[in-house]
Amino acid sequence: MRPSVLVTRASFPDIVDRLRSAFDVTDNPGDDIWSQPSLIERLQGKTGAMTAGSDRIDATLLDACPQLKAVCNIGVGYNNIDVQACTARGVLVTNTPDVLTETTADFGFALMMAAARRMTESEHYLRAGEWVKTGRYDMFVGPDVHGSTLGILGMGRIGQAIARRGALGFGMRVIYHNRSRLAPGIESECRASYVDKDTLLRESDHLIIVVPYSESSHHAIGAAQLKQMKSTATLTNIARGGVVDDDALAVALQEGGIAAAGLDVFEGEPAIRPALLACRNVVLTPHIGSASVRTRRAMASLCVDNLLAALGEGPSAGAPPTPVNPQVLARRVATA
Ligand code: DGY
Repeated sequence: MRPSVLVTRASFPDIVDRLRSAFDVTDNPGDDIWSQPSLIERLQGKTGAMTAGSDRIDATLLDACPQLKAVCNIGVGYNNIDVQACTARGVLVTNTPDVLTETTADFGFALMMAAARRMTESEHYLRAGEWVKTGRYDMFVGPDVHGSTLGILGMGRIGQAIARRGALGFGMRVIYHNRSRLAPGIESECRASYVDKDTLLRESDHLIIVVPYSESSHHAIGAAQLKQMKSTATLTNIARGGVVDDDALAVALQEGGIAAAGLDVFEGEPAIRPALLACRNVVLTPHIGSASVRTRRAMASLCVDNLLAALGEGPSAGAPPTPVNPQVLARRVATA
């Protein structure tokens, strides 16, 4: 009997169709958002799942779906999945790193520039017909990007790609803070200097958050950290909701603690704090950092490759390209 798999969110039908050569596929062409009980119900009898950040894969779900062998997530981040619980139950987890690095770095840079140069705020003013009434020479002045200090919290692949854009393209001084310092060769290739977190907060003109979400990065930027930043600084979050305390950020934006923010991710998204929606000095986008056609297709394709291989199909059968918990594979080989 062919294995059955569940595809939880709609993506590119021609790419998802590759799964149909090997599996019975149940998908979600209408892109409905399923509650946790509904997801559990739909996973009954399924050996694999192609999931997204909106699906919570936790111990309760895994215990209710004991036949599940592979959870293949679209996205480099996988904080929606309890990897430890998966590993303990022999469930392989995969993600889609690398293919989105440059596209997401482009977006982070664009969001930072839009916040600094007040692009959406001034567009609203223009669309509202205000320009003809009140245009002034000093309207919508904001901080420069070129030649300023770019701070990066989290210096993985995307952080490094942002650093290169800032240093090489915009003549910025680049400082970063990360759990571990980069090798000297990578630091010099990115033209980035390691600093402690306090220095990063104090000296950045534009701070970009790219650190993965975990218990230890929860509210890494809260009221106390925002107070350390320059009142002329911008903050851009393209990492995950919860790394920044959105309530504290809204207060800082309202009270002039920082100049502006660019946010692609939110605590509790897709709901957004009303206080943030009310701020005019914040650019808000709906988690689209990796959303170029080529990159989103590459992510879907890598996810399909992972799911095929995880369930013993396709050219790399048994060896998914990007496993998160490869120890599950090693265990499978040892017990085969
Ligand atoms: C990622 O890949 O983690 C992006 O944020 C999309 O979820």
